[in-house]
Formats: sequence, C-alpha cells, structure tokens
Amino acid sequence: MTLVFQNLRKQYGANVAIDDVSTSFEPGRIHGIIGPNGAGKSTLINMTAGSYTVSAGEIRLDGRRIDGLKKYEIANSGIARTYQNIRLFDQMTALENLEVCYYPTDVGKSWREILWPPYSRRQKSRRRAACMEILRFFGLEGYAEAEAGSLPYGRQRMLEIARALVMNPRVLLLDEPAAGLNHHETAELTAKLAELRSPDRVMIIVEHDMDLVMTLCDIIVVMHHGKLLFKGTPAEVQASTDVQLAYLGTANDIDEIRAAAEARRAQLGIRARQRP
Ligand SMILES: Nc1ncnc2c1ncn2[C@@H]1O[C@H](COP(=O)(O)OP(=O)(O)OP(=O)(O)O)[C@@H](O)[C@H]1O
Ligand SMILES: [Mg+2]
Repeated sequence: MTLVFQNLRKQYGANVAIDDVSTSFEPGRIHGIIGPNGAGKSTLINMTAGSYTVSAGEIRLDGRRIDGLKKYEIANSGIARTYQNIRLFDQMTALENLEVCYYPTDVGKSWREILWPPYSRRQKSRRRAACMEILRFFGLEGYAEAEAGSLPYGRQRMLEIARALVMNPRVLLLDEPAAGLNHHETAELTAKLAELRSPDRVMIIVEHDMDLVMTLCDIIVVMHHGKLLFKGTPAEVQASTDVQLAYLGTANDIDEIRAAAEARRAQLGIRARQRP
C-alpha cells in the first residue's frame, strides 16, 4: 500500500503553506521529511491524518482517495500519527492510553461483550496483554499504572508512539518524535524506530535531528517554503547544494545544517522543559 500526494496544496488565507506537492511513500521504507521551520512539514502530516483539510490536490492510500474523509475514517483506513507537541491523555495511566486506542479485534463485536460476559473478559485481557507487550517493547512496562502526565518527558514521547502503534497502522506518521529528547534518549528512539520498519508499513518521520534522519531514513523529502525541494537518499540529500542553501542560505556543508538543526532541538528542549 502506497501513500500518494498528488498536486497537494494547502492555503491559510493568503499564506500558501503547501504548494503543488506530488510524491509517494512506499511500504517497507522509512521516509524522512525535513526542512526549515515553517516549511510545511507538519501541514503535510496534518492533512494526511485528516486534522487539516486539503485546499487542492489529492491524497491516496492504495489508490483510494482519503482526503475529504473524516478523521476517524482516515484512522480506520490504517493511518496513525503522533504530534509535534505531545497529546496524551494525561489523567489516564500509560496502559489506559494504549487500551483506549487498541484497534484490531474488538471492532464490531460489542454485542457479544454485552451479551456474554466471559467473551468480554477474554477480550479485555487479550487487549491488555497486547498493550503491555507494546509498553514492554518501548521499555515502559514499569510505568503501566502511572498517570501518563506524570511520566518523564522522554517517556511520554515513547508512549505517544506506542499509542499510535496499538492501532496497528499501515501508515505511521511521526511529527518530530525526538523533539526535546536528550542524546541518549534520541539514540534509544532511533533504535526502536528502526525495529518498526516493516514490509507492510509506510513510515514517515518529520524531524530536525539530522543524526536520527540520516541514520534511520531510506528516503528523505526536503520541504522548503511549502514546496518539495528535493527527494533522495540520505547521501544524496547531504550532497545537494540546493538543500544546504534552503536550510541556511549560506550553508556550505552538512555540519552547518547539523548546527542549525541542533539549535532548533535546543529550542524545543527548552520548550519541553517548560511544560507544567
Ligand atoms: N493552523 C494554521 N493556521 C494558519 N497558518 C498555519 C497553520 N498551521 C501552519 N500554518 C502556517 O503554514 C506554514 C507551514 O507550517 P508548518 O507547521 O507545516 O511548518 P513546519 O515545517 O512543520 O515547521 P516547524 O519545523 O516549525 O514545525 C507556516 O507558514 C505556518 O505559519
Ligand atoms: Mg512542524
């Protein structure tokens, strides 16, 4: 199943945030979307997930048009996402955060749950076991009964990805998953995300952390002023002078891009620590 953008456009009043973007994202691959602040990266994620409407163009999953569908219909078609600013259910436990989003076996069987309590109990324990397994995968099992809002910031980031995964998504959209993480946490996240690469899953990661992007991604899309500036492998992106110029105007090597990205990370880190 391939995710396709065709002549995609998003306009906020006079501001054109996405300008005629056409590209596709393949299963089995990890795609990065990079670009300076305001380039339109989150807008692409938000339109794909149905959080924002599309001004023009099309988004197709497996040939089927998904733009214009309701948010829950898009989620049901197998698209899950995380947010640039974490949006967990803070008052619920880590495990409950996953359980409420758990997708596969319960759907359409609610009458059995009502009429046959043993079935319901079995379903619940199956759901719980599946969610615990995902928590374990992310090293979060010790936090299962803790309120999500009380988790350390880095663990909340992991929990948000875990919550997206319980929906068993065919398309996983991650908006700045490493924002606010320290180097150790980012390395841990990079390793986990690598394990999520799967032949039948499209992965798209918007990220400013160049080490993560260059290590993890098979293909990188570079956005600039709402346009798709470049698409290629990490090596091709690093060699592209267009990309270097887009990032800094005067950049002449990848180290400068890294420095710009690092400054952005630090800025987000400050924002993260200021969270109540
Ligand atoms: N809800 C909105 N209403 C109006 N303008 C918006 C909205 N969301 C985004 N924009 C504008 O669209 C453009 C692209 O924003 P977007 O958030 O997609 O950028 P980004 O690449 O994700 O940037 P960053 O790296 O800072 O997260 C910007 O000019 C931004 O101001
Ligand atoms: Mg963004």
